[in-house]
Amino acid sequence: MKRQLHLNLFINSRGHHEASWRHPTASPLALTDIRYYQDLAQRAEAALFDSIFLADVLALGDDVAHVARTWLEPITVLAAVAVATSRIGLVATVSSTYTEPFNLARQFASLDHISNGRVGWNIVTSSLASSARNFGGEPQLSHADRYARGEEFMRVVNALWDSWAEDAVVDDRASGIYAKADRVRPINHRGDFYRVEGPLNIPRGPQGRPVLVQAGSSDTGRRFAARHADAVFTACLGKAEAQEFYADLKALAVAEGRSPEDVLILPGLSPMVASTEAEAQRLAREVDDLADVESGRKRLADWFGGQDFSHIPLDVPLRPEDLPHPDSVQAARSRAELVHNLVRQNNATLRQVIGYFAAARGHYLMAGTPEQIADLIEDWFTDGAADGFNLMPPLLPAMLDVFIEEVVPLLQRRGLFRISYEGEMLRHHYGLAWPKSAFPEA
Ligand SMILES: Cc1cc2nc3c(=O)[nH]c(=O)nc-3n(C[C@H](O)[C@H](O)[C@H](O)COP(=O)(O)O)c2cc1C
Repeated sequence: MKRQLHLNLFINSRGHHEASWRHPTASPLALTDIRYYQDLAQRAEAALFDSIFLADVLALGDDVAHVARTWLEPITVLAAVAVATSRIGLVATVSSTYTEPFNLARQFASLDHISNGRVGWNIVTSSLASSARNFGGEPQLSHADRYARGEEFMRVVNALWDSWAEDAVVDDRASGIYAKADRVRPINHRGDFYRVEGPLNIPRGPQGRPVLVQAGSSDTGRRFAARHADAVFTACLGKAEAQEFYADLKALAVAEGRSPEDVLILPGLSPMVASTEAEAQRLAREVDDLADVESGRKRLADWFGGQDFSHIPLDVPLRPEDLPHPDSVQAARSRAELVHNLVRQNNATLRQVIGYFAAARGHYLMAGTPEQIADLIEDWFTDGAADGFNLMPPLLPAMLDVFIEEVVPLLQRRGLFRISYEGEMLRHHYGLAWPKSAFPEA
């Protein structure tokens, strides 16, 4: 079969544009109303998307006065979305730095059962200093320490998911045997950061392990993804950068003994779609004008680990020296690299940088017609830049609806996107193998 495109709906606020929440086309539902998330997932499922995705950070931003960034906790949301849908994959972000591996393995095994094999975990190490302050940790763990801890975290959760054989539960009322004791075993992990006896107290989920997603793009993050991830979300400013990332990550996966197809690369794409390019651009400007400049300044400060940008004039082109070097950044290093690239490539002013990141936080932005969007998707997909996209509609549900009605049929007509689901589970949609059992055949 022809290689198929993967589409993931990234749900964020009332859209990915920071000002989306106040736009007249945005959903009238409260962001704390579960029907909002269930409804979006149902729309994406009707359009045959592979999955939905929820991001998460562990602190309230200091821009709550002007930015609707509050959201419900992703694991509980996915449980509620799981029972309102039947086919679409469900991916949630949870930080490896601020939970225990036993908790996480248990929650995702539970969700995999609840959803009948549709769950994925976006592994993040959490970059924000404000998150550290909510977990007793001051100063924040360094970038290297967060990833070192993450490596051990992965060993523990994988061992926990593998601590039950697939056939361990017999549930036989006649013989009185509920489970075969020799098909469940402890893991006895004793490492630098974690001591976990195991086994997990939940039977193996339908997918064996949840699908593993990763979204850190620094050098360490890429190597981590190449070892562990089934899919990688990434933010790219353009096609050349996406191609570099794609080639690098596939090569790193091969160096880890994996095949290039074992790791899907899904860059973010935030399309403003209208019947003419001029109308799409007008709409983009209309939403940009609703964004709050000071909130943008604060977001940059967070990414750079608390750097003060208040003295930098808004309308003078920035120089790279005005910003801390990305290598020195202990917070969101790959976002810091994006800011540097934008400044180097476009002579951008602080106001332009802020505007760009308000629209989709550094993900690829496009304003155009359905044909133009479909052309870009096809070009990146066939030219070594993407295996699919993390779709980030700037306005929800309006720009999701237009994408579904106008762009998806074009992709289907071109033979790039499925016309029906071919399996029940997220591993089927992503075309992934099942993890091998740690137990000998019974
Ligand atoms: C699409 C996408 C989604 C992300 N979602 C989250 C998130 O929900 N929570 C979070 O803490 N970091 C998130 N990140 C950031 C990274 O996962 C990572 O933690 C951060 O970039 C620092 O790692 P790095 O220096 O390796 O890039 C996301 C990144 C991308 C590209």
